[in-house]
Amino acid sequence: PIVIAQQNFTHQDSLHYPFEERGLQFGDGIYEVIRIYKGNYYLLKEHMDRLFCSAEAIKIDLNITKEELTRLLLKLLEKNKMTTDGKVYLQATRGSAPRDHVFPVDTPANLYAYVQDLPRPSEKLKNGICTITTPDVRWENCYIKSLNLLPNVLAKQEAKENNCYEAILHRGELVTECSSSNIYIVKNGEIYTHPTTNRILHGCVRMRIEKFANDLSIPFHEQAFYKEAIFQADEVFLSSSTSEVMPVVRVNNQHIQDGKPGAITRKLQKAYELDAA
Ligand code: PDD
Repeated sequence: PIVIAQQNFTHQDSLHYPFEERGLQFGDGIYEVIRIYKGNYYLLKEHMDRLFCSAEAIKIDLNITKEELTRLLLKLLEKNKMTTDGKVYLQATRGSAPRDHVFPVDTPANLYAYVQDLPRPSEKLKNGICTITTPDVRWENCYIKSLNLLPNVLAKQEAKENNCYEAILHRGELVTECSSSNIYIVKNGEIYTHPTTNRILHGCVRMRIEKFANDLSIPFHEQAFYKEAIFQADEVFLSSSTSEVMPVVRVNNQHIQDGKPGAITRKLQKAYELDAA
């Protein structure tokens, strides 16, 4: 496979990362995961906007314009003759320099991106998935798509060990999001999700879901809900670039209603399919 390293194309096998790299040593960097359907990016502009927002927030100079990076990413698909469903992983760190907490001077950011096949999670989308709840112990700047994912990794592992797909995070009793997705409940035909504050990642798919809801005249409330509200909800679903619009049918071993994906979730899934096609 061909990858982007710095601002050039190269073979993946020829990539060598220095021992002292700020992404490795400090998690001092940011990333994006962008969905590809049949060889085309989905929500590329939204991901580019968020990447540059993250870079600005942690003061990394990417040393490339949004337009140039977009052009490189499009070319990456061409070079890999990508025609299937997949994803791009893109990472930028503050660069390679002797270990020191202080920012290095005159050190260029390290940027790389690669494509991988990733089939749609069709069976899960059809039947729904199980989740657990666990406290949100992350920092105050979750809107930055930072490489520091230890709390997310631990939460996801806890889900896995309970035979679940995702972990729903809550700060105090309020639900924020999941370890790698945004979360929603439906009550009396209306959607509720945490507002886009610094407590959650502003999901690109979340942005689309708000639009789908508006198009379908389904009220969409950016209003945080209590953990307990999940169990009284008519429907629960989550969203991300890899999970799409994913029905949640069980939380902490308790069924949501009849344990089947709900009607509004299905409508949003349909809207997503049309949008992403
Ligand atoms: N995660 N919240 C968190 C904490 C996330 O890590 C993600 C995405 C989302 C959804 O964002 P989007 O709709 O833009 O994909 C919400 C990616 C997929 C990952 O880390 O693999």
